[in-house]
Amino acid sequence: MPCSPTSGPANWPRVTDVNADLVAELVASGIDRREARWLVEEFVPGGDLDAAPALRRAAKRRLDGEPLQYIIGHWPFRSLDLDVDPGVLIPRPETEELVGFAIDELARMGCAAPVIMDLGCGSGAIGLALLDELLERGILATLVAVDQSTDALATARRNALKHKLHAVSFVHSSWFADVDPSLRGHIDLIVANPPYVGDEEFVHLDPVLRYEPKGAIVSRDAKGVPGFADLDVIIREAVSWLRPGGVLICEHSNIHRDAATETAKQAGFVDVVDLDDLAGHPRTLIARRA
Ligand SMILES: C[S@@+](CC[C@H](N)C(=O)[O-])C[C@H]1O[C@@H](n2cnc3c(N)ncnc32)[C@H](O)[C@@H]1O
Repeated sequence: MPCSPTSGPANWPRVTDVNADLVAELVASGIDRREARWLVEEFVPGGDLDAAPALRRAAKRRLDGEPLQYIIGHWPFRSLDLDVDPGVLIPRPETEELVGFAIDELARMGCAAPVIMDLGCGSGAIGLALLDELLERGILATLVAVDQSTDALATARRNALKHKLHAVSFVHSSWFADVDPSLRGHIDLIVANPPYVGDEEFVHLDPVLRYEPKGAIVSRDAKGVPGFADLDVIIREAVSWLRPGGVLICEHSNIHRDAATETAKQAGFVDVVDLDDLAGHPRTLIARRA
């Protein structure tokens, strides 16, 4: 999650949908024009001026620094409109790329009914988007969505219901610790976007990140690498939960490429590759169980 959550998706509201005077008022108060359009669209649907006080309260929250996503309470991610709240990380655009890589890997594997595990599911972004996009292709996947935060699991469950995605089990666990052991060796795909920012780096990041749960962002150091502790556990343990030929896909920080690929090779993974994100930064490990 290197970028600020306010960077936003491509599909901001259309100008024709919003009340121009209210947008102008918000822009004059210091709010970015695209965010002003979104707030007006959200809080004054159809230009109902009775709703203007609620809009002004929302604008004040934004001016005080709260991320737009928490104020409006939902955010687009791939095919889904996800509920988001301060108990979950706001899903980021680079994580949307990870979903694309996962779809490609599943297509290569040719699984008719893949079993997918989303470690650190947060709002459910990665796993639920995968279920939804696979369904579109006629593939009925099942998802094991894991998080150690009960708040995150509650939001992920709400998002699954909202999008009528029922083939999901939610597991309260620190990584694999409390996952049903009968799944060991049977998972086709493990996806993870774990916390990966070191404590030191966190202090210097955009203050807007302080609105998000610190446990979703910051990880301890491991192997002398800042913020690598959670990735280290996931990469080392994932291999035994995948079926032979199964794939692990992990998002990581731009300083983690060497540690992530080395750890994957030492754990026994083969076909280890690490891809840049669209901004050209090292971002995603892909590794296959032999
Ligand atoms: C960076 S957020 C990712 C959320 C979501 N997957 C996404 O991409 O938007 C990391 C998630 O991992 C969870 N988490 C942190 N430590 C964990 C642990 N030891 N076991 C399970 N989940 C953990 C956090 O609660 C958080 O929901």
